[in-house]
This record gives sequence, C-alpha cells and structure tokens, in this order.
Amino acid sequence: MDRYGPLPEIRGARMRDELIGEVELAALAGRGGAGFPTARKLAAVAARRNAVVIGDGTEGEPVSAKDKVLIAQSPHLVLDGAAAAAGLVGATGAIVVAHAAVSHLMAAAVAERRRARVDRIRLSVVPAADGFVAGEASAVVHWLESRVPKPKSTPVRLSERGLRGRPTLVQNVETLAHLALITRYGAGWFRGVGTQREPGSLLVTLSGAVRVPGVYEVEIGMPVGAVLGLAGGVAGPLSGLLVGGYFGSWVDPAVAVDLPLSSEGLGALGAGLGAGLLALLPADVCGLAEAARIARYLAAESAGQCGPCVFGLEAIAGQLERLASGRGPDLVALRRWIGQVGRGRGACKHPDGTVAMVASALRVFSGEIDRHAAGWCCGVPGRTSTLSPPGRW
Ligand SMILES: Cc1cc2nc3c(=O)[nH]c(=O)nc-3n(C[C@H](O)[C@H](O)[C@H](O)COP(=O)(O)O)c2cc1C
Ligand code: SF4
Repeated sequence: MDRYGPLPEIRGARMRDELIGEVELAALAGRGGAGFPTARKLAAVAARRNAVVIGDGTEGEPVSAKDKVLIAQSPHLVLDGAAAAAGLVGATGAIVVAHAAVSHLMAAAVAERRRARVDRIRLSVVPAADGFVAGEASAVVHWLESRVPKPKSTPVRLSERGLRGRPTLVQNVETLAHLALITRYGAGWFRGVGTQREPGSLLVTLSGAVRVPGVYEVEIGMPVGAVLGLAGGVAGPLSGLLVGGYFGSWVDPAVAVDLPLSSEGLGALGAGLGAGLLALLPADVCGLAEAARIARYLAAESAGQCGPCVFGLEAIAGQLERLASGRGPDLVALRRWIGQVGRGRGACKHPDGTVAMVASALRVFSGEIDRHAAGWCCGVPGRTSTLSPPGRW
C-alpha cells in the first residue's frame, strides 16, 4: 500500500464491469503457463453468485523460481491482486496457495493486513503440495478440498463448479500481481511497456548456462538476446534452449536470440512464453538426453488416472531414452504416439505439455538423431542436466 497506493474500492456491478473492461483493454494474459486472457476468466466467474478466488503459487515446475521470488519480495502485491480479483467477481474470500518454501512469508503478510484491517474480504494462505501436477488448477482445488494434490479425474469447468461446488477463479500469483497494478493505474499504464498484442512485463526465470541465473522482470517483446544480457550473457557454447518450462519447446539458441520474447515472436519457432522460463543447455550436455530426462520425470509425475497419460508418457519416455543412448529406438512408433497422446486425451493438459516438449526436441535436435543411431553423442558421458532452479529454492 505504501509503495503503490490504495486499491480502488470495488462497489456495485457497474464498477466491476468497468474494471473487467479495463483488464480486457490491458490484454492481461495468465502467467501460469497457458496465457489465457484474464478478463474472460473474470467475466465468466463474475456472472455467477457465491464465487471464490484462488491464487496459484504452487510453482510445481522444478526449474522455475519466479512465483517464489515474487511471493518472497512482494507478498502484498499478490494479496492486493487476490483482493482485487475477489472484488471483481463478487467473492467474499480469496485463498493463496503458496509454495511451501515461502508460504510462511505470505501468511505473515496476511496477518499484517488483518491487524491493519486492510481488506474487506477474507484472505487466507495454504501451503502448496509438492509435485509437478499439483499446480494444475483443478489439482489446487482438489488439494484445498481433500488434501489430494492431483487434477480432478474428469475435466471440470472451475468457473461453474470449482471449490466445494462454488464458481472459482484460479489465477497464477504473478497474474494477480499484474491485476493489482492494472486496477490501480489502468490499461493505458500497463500498455506503456510490452507489445501491442502482448502488453506489460513478465517475470522470467533464467537458468542453466547463463552467468547470473535468477528471476528477472522484463518487458514482453524484448529480444531474447537482451534478456540473456540482463543475466550477464551466456556462459559458454550451448546445445539448446528450452523456452517456457518443461511443457515448453526446445529451440535453436542462435535463432532465438534475435526474436522478441513474446508468444507471437517465439511462435515463429513453434514456442511460446509458457511459465516464463529460459533454460540454457551447455554444449557438453546432449539435448536428446536432457529431453529424455525431462520426459522421464514428467511421465513419473503423472497423476496416474488417465490411460494415455500413464501408458503413453511411459512409452514415449522409454523410446526417447533409447534414442538418446543409441539403443535403436522405434522412431515411427515414437512419432505416432506423440501424435496420439497429445490431443487433449487426458483429464488435464499434462500429456499435451509433455509431448509438445518431446516433439520440439525431435525437431531441434534432428541432426543428432542419426549420429546417436551410429553410436555417437555430443554430450560428455555421465554429464546430465544443469537445468536446476536458480538460487536457494
Ligand atoms: C500439469 C500442470 C501443472 C500446472 N502447474 C501450475 C503451477 O504450478 N502454477 C500455476 O500457476 N499454474 C499451473 N498450471 C496452470 C493452471 O492449470 C492454470 O492454467 C493457471 O493457474 C491459471 O492461472 P493464469 O490464467 O493466471 O495463468 C499447470 C497446468 C498443468 C496442466
Ligand atoms: S492427464 Fe495425467 S496428470 Fe492429468 S489428470 Fe490424467 S493422469 Fe493425472
């Protein structure tokens, strides 16, 4: 409050509609990975009664640190966003589910606000569950309802029937922070940075072969090379760049550096912003081996409820491992499974995200495929991933 000034008090349906219109003008897109327009989610929940708001700070992505850094540094901005979202959808409460490493900081901020009687709504904090799929929106609801950190086994429309059957708005905590600023300063202010189609700033986690790994706030549309420059530039030759996170895409770093960091710009390489992650793979780590490692991790993280996810990801990870280790993979079957598994066939997007990453690896490291078949690998034997989360998380 001291830094940004008070939030506008949202009273009456007209003011709500005007402010949701402002969010639409700002073209705010979700920062949790899917990039869905926030105004559309707000409007869908606002049209119903008895709504509840959930801030998703689970950050299940192992290499990402942006939500933890945001919560640690600006918990009140996230809570302002949760309070604003509640005002916009007519909710009387908001729950922030925060990564266990930082949930105590969020809880302290909530206590501070209670003492100062800042909010008209009830804010609360719940430590998030561990695991890659625990941050999926229906898994967060499941966690809050029954301490089961798995997506619901059948697809659900949370805006209609979410937490305990109530219309539920689930927004990533970074999205909430942007929302807090848009409701204060308006769409024109938000559009002061970023691109015409994708305005605003973005938190990115830079990890791997950069000189100063960490979380940076950047203007959307800044060239990828300039973003890497903020982290002191690349630390040596690279074999690949993973954009967006484990559900993201492998791209050729030499091509990507000149592109704008935006979904539109990265779209030229079949990539997108995802959860705001740029992970640089050093040249002595084989891209196919790293893609196989991530695919195996994601297969193991399946919530074990949908056939294509359980059996499909297991089979895909196995073939990718054979490919990476030169053990004669069945590439025809691998490509067929990629086509079959990633078509919205799970109750959540876990299989889709995984196969998108695998497909991009086959594209970008295609030159390596024949060489691996001949028993040659570009990586140093035994050298595996350096794509660890930056800092102490
Ligand atoms: C397997 C899986 C894991 C996810 N993990 C997270 C997460 O850790 N944090 C998050 O904010 N969104 C995560 N999401 C996306 C959420 O389902 C949801 O789209 C998001 O929280 C909505 O907020 P946003 O519109 O503000 O991005 C995940 C999605 C999937 C399919
Ligand atoms: S697709 Fe996979 S992760 Fe998603 S609900 Fe089904 S089994 Fe669980």
